Amino acid sequence: MKKKILVTRKLLKENEDKLKELFDVKLNQNDELYSPEKILELSKDCDGILSAITDKFDENLINKLSPSVKIIANFAVGFGNIDIQAAKKKNIIVTNTPEVLDDATADITILLLLGASRKVLEARRAAEKQDWTWSANFLLGKQMSNKKLGILGMGRIGRAVAKRARGFGMEIHYHNRNQLSKELEEGAIYHPSIKDLFKQSDFLSINCPATKETNKLINKETINYLPKNPVVANAARGDIIDDEAMIEALKSKRVFALGLDVYNGEPKIHPEYLKLDNIFLLPHLGSATKRTRWDMGYRATENLENFFKSGKPKDKVN
Ligand code: DGY
Repeated sequence: MKKKILVTRKLLKENEDKLKELFDVKLNQNDELYSPEKILELSKDCDGILSAITDKFDENLINKLSPSVKIIANFAVGFGNIDIQAAKKKNIIVTNTPEVLDDATADITILLLLGASRKVLEARRAAEKQDWTWSANFLLGKQMSNKKLGILGMGRIGRAVAKRARGFGMEIHYHNRNQLSKELEEGAIYHPSIKDLFKQSDFLSINCPATKETNKLINKETINYLPKNPVVANAARGDIIDDEAMIEALKSKRVFALGLDVYNGEPKIHPEYLKLDNIFLLPHLGSATKRTRWDMGYRATENLENFFKSGKPKDKVN
């Protein structure tokens, strides 16, 4: 008999077809955002759940899940939306979708750095008004080529950002929990402390996971380690930045510009960010290409399939 899977969000047709072939699936045809109560109700006779970052599986929800639910396969590399310890206590395996979104997310990171440094928001507004005149001083941005790039979190996505930045002639610096092998560093300079990394970062790219340790890691104190007028981009998770401190730094131009793809409490955005010009905002598009979403759906499906076949999904995180 086929295993029963609740799929909490609408996926690409190709992914849903594959899921239908392998499992008895409950799909979300209208892509409704399910409440925790609805997730409980819909999953009560299910063996697994294919979840998305918009579902908050906190301890309370996990504890109330039916004992039949044995796996939550998250459609994302990040899994901050799931209390993985609570899941472990309940013998629920959690998986993610690493690797397949590295390129798309690194592309978006470069877009954030360029969008912020080259004043794309102001430029778009000016272009729309159609009353601009070319002048030698018009909307001057900050040049990214040949500058120093600091990468906070040199995992697969961080390394994919470094690869692209080398094409801009940038000198790569990074901080990670552990120093990478020479082969993976490819000439990037390791800084065991955040302070030392930030001091070198004309441009700073945030690519680390959201954890207790990285929560509000970009704050009043650490922003002040950065050189004068840096450009900062965050394609990781909103809670890594202390928004109040960043807004103050943007207002005073201590930070030249900020590029954001992710937010604290998204889809809400801190209202002060919306009033600023030196910011470039995207609505969490890091992995949003058809190819990548297809791969993510396939990877999550594969995790479910392997779990039910062998108990050993490739991307177990707890
Ligand atoms: C991820 O996979 O964590 C992305 O942020 C989802 O788009």
